[in-house]
Amino acid sequence: MSGQVLVIGATGSVGSELVTLLSRMGERVRAATRDPAAARSPHSAVEFVEFDFERPQTFAATLDGVDRVFLIARPGDDHADLVAYPLIDEMKRRGVRQVVNLSAMGAESRDDFALKKVERYLEDSGVGFTHLRPNFFMQVFSTPPLVLGIRATGAIHIPAADAKLSYIDVRDIAAVAAATLTEQGHTGKAYTLTGGQALDHQEIARAISGASGRAVQYVAISEEAARRSLEASGLSPERTERLLGFYRLVRQGFCALVSSDVQTLLGRAPISFAQFALDNASCWK
Ligand SMILES: NC(=O)c1ccc[n+]([C@@H]2O[C@H](COP(=O)([O-])OP(=O)(O)OC[C@H]3O[C@@H](n4cnc5c(N)ncnc54)[C@H](OP(=O)(O)O)[C@@H]3O)[C@@H](O)[C@H]2O)c1
Repeated sequence: MSGQVLVIGATGSVGSELVTLLSRMGERVRAATRDPAAARSPHSAVEFVEFDFERPQTFAATLDGVDRVFLIARPGDDHADLVAYPLIDEMKRRGVRQVVNLSAMGAESRDDFALKKVERYLEDSGVGFTHLRPNFFMQVFSTPPLVLGIRATGAIHIPAADAKLSYIDVRDIAAVAAATLTEQGHTGKAYTLTGGQALDHQEIARAISGASGRAVQYVAISEEAARRSLEASGLSPERTERLLGFYRLVRQGFCALVSSDVQTLLGRAPISFAQFALDNASCWK
């Protein structure tokens, strides 16, 4: 009989969808969070455990009885590699056989990037791995800060110029993660996860307007205006610069690539931006 599947980042956007999918598939799921007392799931087979990348003393109990892991290195952190390495070492000691690692699109070509370092460390560890490299999530429009800006001003203010992006729905990322954790044949592979279409932000604004019934505009802002606005919202200078760096890649066209991996892995088309907008219409009103 298989052991438990550990989901790291289980209360986050991808992890919470994944916990639901794995539970429906009959897997015994261990859900990692810094605050298990606050965590809830309607699925009785989900066991919440206390886990904190900052406290390596939580690693052993978290991994006890686990044979597969969904790994998110600490989100939004330029030094996520440093806290992920000791966890990967512990996985190896405990005989974890498969790690599905949430990385990011383009990580393979950026040696200085923390998520690339995590990929490489995992590859060298001898533990079975699958890298998932998603593009920007569609959910950036339904969560802060962008959703708050859209509600307050009726506009999307980002420094994307007229670049196109193949945004992906987190529900597709979770579906791919569930498949790669439960099917054979994905060890040693890396998948690039995008939506089925690259859209510019005029098209994104039209889709949000059409779904919500509220007129939403796209306003292309300069990098300097974005920096002022992110800092005013309380984001640290480090995270601000990190985000601005991602938008530089967007403007250079790197995020317009459309991959067929979701279609191949799931046997269906990725969720469209129009569908995402319909499913989230109430959040922009
Ligand atoms: N957003 C995008 O467009 C995008 C695009 C490509 C790749 N990615 C990658 O996707 C990942 C983020 O995924 P997500 O959006 O699902 O994450 P998320 O919603 O931001 O959060 C994931 C969870 O991480 C947990 N966490 C935070 N600090 C922790 C710590 N010190 N120890 C243990 N757990 C901690 C939190 O759980 P608790 O509070 O319950 O502990 C949180 O719910 C990042 O690696 C990012 O680089 C994102």
